[in-house]
Amino acid sequence: MDESVAPSKPEGSLVVHKLSALFAELYGGHPAIYRAPGRVNLIGEHTDYNDGFVMPVALDLYTYVAVSPRADRRLRVYSENMSETCDVDLNLIRPGRSGHWSDYVRGVAGVLESSGYRLRGADLAIMSDVPLGSGLSSSAALEVSTAWALLGNSQITADRTTIAQMCQKAEHVYAETMCGIMDQFISCHGRVGHALMLDCRSLELELLPIPSHVRLMVCNTMVKHEHATGGYNTRRHECEEGFRVLAQALPGIRALRDVTRDELEKYAHRLSPVIYKRVRHVVTENDRVKEAASALETGDVAAFGRFMADSHRSLRDDYEVSTPELDLMVELANGQEGVYGARMTGGGFGGSTINLVDAAHAEKVQQRLDQNYEARTGLKPTILIREASDGAGAVGENPRETDAKGRSE
Ligand code: GLA
Repeated sequence: MDESVAPSKPEGSLVVHKLSALFAELYGGHPAIYRAPGRVNLIGEHTDYNDGFVMPVALDLYTYVAVSPRADRRLRVYSENMSETCDVDLNLIRPGRSGHWSDYVRGVAGVLESSGYRLRGADLAIMSDVPLGSGLSSSAALEVSTAWALLGNSQITADRTTIAQMCQKAEHVYAETMCGIMDQFISCHGRVGHALMLDCRSLELELLPIPSHVRLMVCNTMVKHEHATGGYNTRRHECEEGFRVLAQALPGIRALRDVTRDELEKYAHRLSPVIYKRVRHVVTENDRVKEAASALETGDVAAFGRFMADSHRSLRDDYEVSTPELDLMVELANGQEGVYGARMTGGGFGGSTINLVDAAHAEKVQQRLDQNYEARTGLKPTILIREASDGAGAVGENPRETDAKGRSE
């Protein structure tokens, strides 16, 4: 049982009505509906797979899954966003990537089954308002909402952290992106009004209230990212290489998280210039997350913003995962009154930036960024002001009596 997270409220939103109607049209009957949020990361990038620290926020943008049981062991799945159906035989799921969106659904079902959760067959319909490929974790939202739906449909309970870990495994084994735990974890554990500081080694979390005068502004550069082909796995291998070399000099370390700045400088000559820069990013970023958390705790949003600026520079120059469009979006934000901080967010190679903006200036900043970015690039960006939301749960008009993690609704 996981009682520490406030239950999701049944929600009568438009998308829930649309999804119920779609489900009735496709399959007939009344489904149960589950949802899981996308995320934005305030600081702590490419640290999760180095056992480090991250500070994501679950956003009020969700993937919704409507589900009802079938008598056999089939999953019939319709994606509204893709306008496509796929069919999965629960007895015949094999690991491996096909490159199709259904890898995430098949992958989650495959990992749940191989973890010992015997699933019922199901009819599913999926709708998402997390923009795809925008760096806001649409894939984690799909994985986590699917897990909730499949478990709820099978009347199985599991705790949030276990679900996050199974969804991460699905991404490794079926999408072949060697992601860390951040995205799936925040999609399960998000809390309204809060950022979450997560120690990716111990999985201990600390909830940090976002001051009420601060707005989260998410700026999609409209340059899509693709992790599997975009260098994410390469960065991960570079970190492993840095760890391997440094562990020869520092036998006590278990991951790059254990390396201090002084130790890195002492053994820098053993690393190639590129690997040195990658490790420097990870080591300094972990320090920044901890310092930024202290700043947020004392309400010093201006100091938090300076750590965001340092984080962006480090991702651009040392980790080399930014793009000219992300850099421009950050530069344009930094020039605006009321902006505390701006940085790229997520894995990089395209996607979105996050700005922390004073509420009184938010609309003006939004308008200016929209105009200035388009004028400079010819691309029409999507600039959203969103709220920090709760993690995954059951929603809709007729949620089952318990949701997937055993919490009463
Ligand atoms: C992607 C991955 C996460 C994390 C970020 C970078 O979003 O899924 O695990 O590594 O990139 O911080």
